Amino acid sequence: MRIAICYFSGTGNTRRVTGEFAKALEALGHTVSELSLDGVGDDLPDGIGKEVKSCDLLGVAYPIHAFNAPANILRFARCLPAGEGRPAFILKTSGEPLRLNDASSLKLIKLLRRRGYEVRSEYRYCMPYNILFRHSDGMTWRMLKTAESLIPLDAAELSQGVPRLPRPVPFGSLAAFLLRCEHWGGRLNGRLYSVTGECVHCGKCVRECPTGNIRMEKDGKIKFGGKCLVCMRCAQSCPKDAVKIGLFVNWKVNGAYSFQRLPSKEPEQRYNKLLTQAYERYFREAERRIDQTKESIT
Ligand SMILES: Cc1cc2nc3c(=O)[nH]c(=O)nc-3n(C[C@H](O)[C@H](O)[C@H](O)COP(=O)(O)O)c2cc1C
Repeated sequence: MRIAICYFSGTGNTRRVTGEFAKALEALGHTVSELSLDGVGDDLPDGIGKEVKSCDLLGVAYPIHAFNAPANILRFARCLPAGEGRPAFILKTSGEPLRLNDASSLKLIKLLRRRGYEVRSEYRYCMPYNILFRHSDGMTWRMLKTAESLIPLDAAELSQGVPRLPRPVPFGSLAAFLLRCEHWGGRLNGRLYSVTGECVHCGKCVRECPTGNIRMEKDGKIKFGGKCLVCMRCAQSCPKDAVKIGLFVNWKVNGAYSFQRLPSKEPEQRYNKLLTQAYERYFREAERRIDQTKESIT
């Protein structure tokens, strides 16, 4: 089967998950193209359009933003070529495993259906938060290893055509609709971004912004426009940690995650009760599924 996975990733988590998923599908004999949606606006570039038209199965991958798909993912879905009943699947990453995250794809599924694609399965993986708070190295490592163990199982299910859609979330559609204000709120907040005196004018943020929203003026000043997706790439990848993210300044997660298992024994990370339960449930269910698969093989 020819599979095209179109993905957006602000800080690399979704790209990593997409890459692992593609590897697992290739190991099952499929041909997979991973297509980044960086820089894609209201028109689909010819290269991506061609790949999508010629694939047998379309994948769309995104990081969950405010219990929704980011604005560029919805824009992308609106300008897809007619799917004519083609099957599709969704990959998503989230910073925590709360069930409301399942509602993030409802709008996307609707748009895909309108363009003639039938979403039969979706898979969500917990990856470290790139906003709000920083996960510990131990937790980050655990999340990555869990995703890497689940992905081959999910890819095998997808390859066999086993459908998998989450149970409906009560009031999920309404909550996601209301929280989609993040799309325009993010654009407004983007105009409030600035850099501190630590900035060395290396231009990394300008080059890497997925919407071309950052420019360097002749005098070296960094200016932010109104097309921000709140993806956090500029803030996380700045070598001097000089980007201030407007009103979200207290939620900034400094620097990229190393995803290395570090030798030191760090104290266990503490969360509030709801999150602790949600993470434990996520890891427990993942372990159960992995064990069941192992048992069925032996
Ligand atoms: C603006 C914004 C909003 C977010 N909202 C949520 C959310 O509603 N639920 C959640 O679990 N994670 C949320 N996250 C965390 C990301 O989904 C998570 O860190 C993701 O793995 C980032 O993927 P990326 O590195 O591919 O961008 C949010 C992150 C950002 C930047």
